[in-house]
Amino acid sequence: MRLFVAVFPTDEVRADLRRRLAPAQARLTAADKWHITLAFLGDVPEDRRADVERALSDVPTAGPITLRLVSGGRFGRGRSTAVWAGVDGDLDALSRLHSDIRAALDAAGQSSDDRPLTPHLTLAYSREPAVLHALEGYRGPQWTVDDFVLVQSHHRDGGGYQTLRSWPLGRRRS
Ligand code: 2AM
Repeated sequence: MRLFVAVFPTDEVRADLRRRLAPAQARLTAADKWHITLAFLGDVPEDRRADVERALSDVPTAGPITLRLVSGGRFGRGRSTAVWAGVDGDLDALSRLHSDIRAALDAAGQSSDDRPLTPHLTLAYSREPAVLHALEGYRGPQWTVDDFVLVQSHHRDGGGYQTLRSWPLGRRRS
């Protein structure tokens, strides 16, 4: 099973971004799949799922994280160029969550990608500059991330994403 760990924006955040991108008339990835990946586990044997879930249950939680989507950028070249929205807000807390998730997976003997975190939300795979232009100066509504999610990707089989489980980020610190 192909797994990753992510946080998702709210409906309001997605709707605002869709409105912003509508004039670009570009082919976007499905808005209900937009997410920020925190760890990519790749293909994991089914019988490891329980270990992965146990590991993620050990991630220390330090309260909700406030984020917003801002501007955009691109990764890669050619047809596989990923166009993404950037992320602003409490990036220190997001980075800590990212490190804690990686550490918990490591401790359970579960490998995940070792890319440094570049918080982004992939919107399209295209060389077309329209989406990137539409994102110039974009500052979306703030939202509060209150959980992180283990997702199974069925993309290679023509399917979507399936949320397997989510973990709350705990209470707001006072
Ligand atoms: P992306 O947002 O940069 O495209 C599900 O495929 C998620 O995992 C996507 O969000 C994708 O990131 C990320 N992903 C796919 N392959 C990856 C890899 N080899 N290393 C890290 N992340 C990957």
